Amino acid sequence: MANVILDKSKRGWWKSAVFYELYPKSFQDTTGSGVGDLRGILSRLDYLETLGIDAIWLCPICASPQVDNGYDISDFCAIDPMFGTMADMEELIAESGKRGIGILIDLTLNHTSNQHVWFREALKSRDNPYHDYYVWRDGTPDVPPNDMRATFGGSAWTYVPELGQWYFHQFAVEQPDLNWENPMLRRELYDVIRFWVSKGVAGFRLDVIDQIAKDPDRKITANGPRLHEYFRELSREALLEEGLVTVGEAWGADTQRARLYSAPDGSELSMVFQFEHIGLDQQPGKDKWDLAPLSLPKLKDCFRRWQQELYGTGWNSLFFNNHDLPRIVSRWGEDGKYRVESAKMLATMLHGMQGTPYIYQGEELGMTNIRLPLEQYQDLEIHNLFRERSAQGYDPQDVMESIWARGRDNARTPMQWTSGPNAGFTTGTPWLPVNENYRQINAEAALADPNSIFYYYQKLIALRKRVPEFRDGSFTLLCPEDEQVFAYTRDTDGGHMLVVCNFSGTEAAFEIPEAFRNAEVLITNYESEAEILRPYEAKILHYKKI
Ligand code: GLC
Repeated sequence: MANVILDKSKRGWWKSAVFYELYPKSFQDTTGSGVGDLRGILSRLDYLETLGIDAIWLCPICASPQVDNGYDISDFCAIDPMFGTMADMEELIAESGKRGIGILIDLTLNHTSNQHVWFREALKSRDNPYHDYYVWRDGTPDVPPNDMRATFGGSAWTYVPELGQWYFHQFAVEQPDLNWENPMLRRELYDVIRFWVSKGVAGFRLDVIDQIAKDPDRKITANGPRLHEYFRELSREALLEEGLVTVGEAWGADTQRARLYSAPDGSELSMVFQFEHIGLDQQPGKDKWDLAPLSLPKLKDCFRRWQQELYGTGWNSLFFNNHDLPRIVSRWGEDGKYRVESAKMLATMLHGMQGTPYIYQGEELGMTNIRLPLEQYQDLEIHNLFRERSAQGYDPQDVMESIWARGRDNARTPMQWTSGPNAGFTTGTPWLPVNENYRQINAEAALADPNSIFYYYQKLIALRKRVPEFRDGSFTLLCPEDEQVFAYTRDTDGGHMLVVCNFSGTEAAFEIPEAFRNAEVLITNYESEAEILRPYEAKILHYKKI
């Protein structure tokens, strides 16, 4: 089936699209450095074209000391030499464009690296014009302005003795928060956006964007009072070209807020990443390291709400994975005997919904989590967690269990291309170990197997463009209390679609509604038919109104 190429200059093209999140550091190395690079991505564009995706969300490639893998940017308009040059980037945008693939740049507009020239200037004196680009409070070295904690551990305030002031950082010490109240700063950031628009990008993924309007005196991080005002200004000032897509990372979004962020008039953003579903398997009120079993009825209710409450009034992004999250097949599927079936089932459940689906690199291969000894992990969050929890008296074994289940490096292991050395990722030493299972799980094997997870995703992507119910259908949840089956319908005036997924590793009963008895099977992960749903069985049925 030929790929349908969407016209990216048209408003709303992304509503029929499927996006692919690419983590450059782990995608393809061409220099033997052990770190992926832009030329590596160029060399794999045919693979992405075969998959059929419409756009790539490229994790940060801007100049950075890499304290937080590029989410600490020191120059928004330069390419980190580790990844290549601006000429490579221009070639990547052009070559992707030829294949109908748009590029989204990942920008951290909430903070910079402490090596950014603005911060280095800000440190020079209180009256330096750049000083007010950051968030400062006067004080003495022993008492921080308040007890706010940084996401990666420790206080959210760091003291600068030369200035007699504390600066605010929601993440690492090396990631000082920007002060969006300063109009000069905002103008500089809009210039950054315009710079990348002039390079021909299709849009932006905006890192922790709901935290820009912070008010640390009132301990407000997400959803500050001026947030919508900033979004509207950004959209008005910098996103002038029709068709640009923006996806904002918004951990604090509920459906009401998301409706504003993604309002159909385009006054704010195109869509946000919200994380409500992602938090359902942790202990209430605790953080992601405190594991709890997933309740399927709760997961279903969560998706139902997002699907129904944004219908016609906003737009969902659909994802299970990203570079901060564990691999979904290991998390809510089964990464042993039923790895293939469960990976396909999870894809069916998600891609059947309304919104823009995001595939995270390797998800289309069913890549799994990894278990490494502590010293082999690279992520600062993992090491900070281990230090903090050990000091608090946690059993180190329990802390490792949490890291194996939730650590961000699970998603960041190198892409598995072949069964050859280092999975074909590098000829050098990979910056993070390759998962041992690469001999079985790799792109080469997937491309040679017509029943692979890869081709299942390819089919789902093509269906989204062919069958209008994927994009437009209203959502109705069936059997909300069922502990095994996730089933729903998508209905338009012209047709009806039924998605049925057995979310468990045992057989499950589900009665196909009368109206769908003779419907076309658009996709399924079992070849033969059966009365009962087999482990992780999934299917999508469809009929048109006559
Ligand atoms: C976002 C990114 C994450 C990063 C953090 C700080 O959550 O996805 O990887 O560490 O922001 O920039």
